[in-house]
Amino acid sequence: MKGILMAGGSGSRLYPLTQVVNKQLQAVYDKPMVYYPLTVLMAGGIREICLIAMERDLPKFQQLLGDGRQWGIKLEYRVQPHPEGIAQAFIIAADFIGNGPVTLILGDNLFFGGDALPRALADFKGGATIFAYHVTNPECYGVVEFDAGGQAVSLEEKPARPRSQYAVPGVYLYDGQVVEIARSLKPSERNELEITDVNRAYLSRGQLQVNRLSRGFAWLDAGSSSSLFEAAAFVQTIEKRQGIKLGCPEEAALRRGFLSLEAFEKLAASMPSCEYRHYLEGIGKEAARQHLPLPS
Ligand code: TTP
Repeated sequence: MKGILMAGGSGSRLYPLTQVVNKQLQAVYDKPMVYYPLTVLMAGGIREICLIAMERDLPKFQQLLGDGRQWGIKLEYRVQPHPEGIAQAFIIAADFIGNGPVTLILGDNLFFGGDALPRALADFKGGATIFAYHVTNPECYGVVEFDAGGQAVSLEEKPARPRSQYAVPGVYLYDGQVVEIARSLKPSERNELEITDVNRAYLSRGQLQVNRLSRGFAWLDAGSSSSLFEAAAFVQTIEKRQGIKLGCPEEAALRRGFLSLEAFEKLAASMPSCEYRHYLEGIGKEAARQHLPLPS
């Protein structure tokens, strides 16, 4: 399974924050936003990842993340010239995807709790797997409707009158058909290639699995000033209470075995003295004692 991280978009809701700095490079409490979705992909075992952003912003992402070697992964970059929709990713990165399966994650989405995502990745056999999450404001997202038997029956993008309270979070698993499906899409009224239309294509082929995320799961997006603030507060609350970090690629790399303990310790030692480094040193010490008891 390969991964695509979408970090384009115009970020208009965050203006003027995004006038100079891309949304996904902004801070969510103690890390750049892009660390969170990147860590989700890594924790799911994905090591080949393509980040897509506007040309203006790519050098900054490259400066921050490099080629991924430091975390035992391989990072590639592609340009999205204009924000013409999330589904355009599959056309832009068609050569990266090849014929195999791919997970796309949105650069401004945060996920926390449970093992629903790594489990879906491990269990993925084909078709598409997406998720559904109960929210107060489904009209802001893709909305999925279920029949009495729990089967997904409709998908709508930002409907004025949502048919359910279930929004589709920004992480999607697809098989190799996705490139051909994306190429066949027509732009929507807002002139974007819609990810909801990709999901609809799988639904009409009878190949869409929708996993409902349970109550214990947190899904946040950080696309508006308030949701960015709330996401930061959420991260701070969990990190302070539990003494674990969210969105830490170094830790995911160690836990997944992408990095040896030696390489991990060396990486931590290369950082300036700060809370982030001290956290990693603590993780390294626990790993050295042959048990990693912290919740992953
Ligand atoms: P959105 O939040 O829907 O769009 P945006 O980032 O342009 O922000 P705004 O609505 O405030 O103008 O995008 C969701 C995610 O998808 C976000 O991480 C950016 C990414 N994205 C792209 O990479 N390319 C695109 O063409 C679009 C529409 C979104």
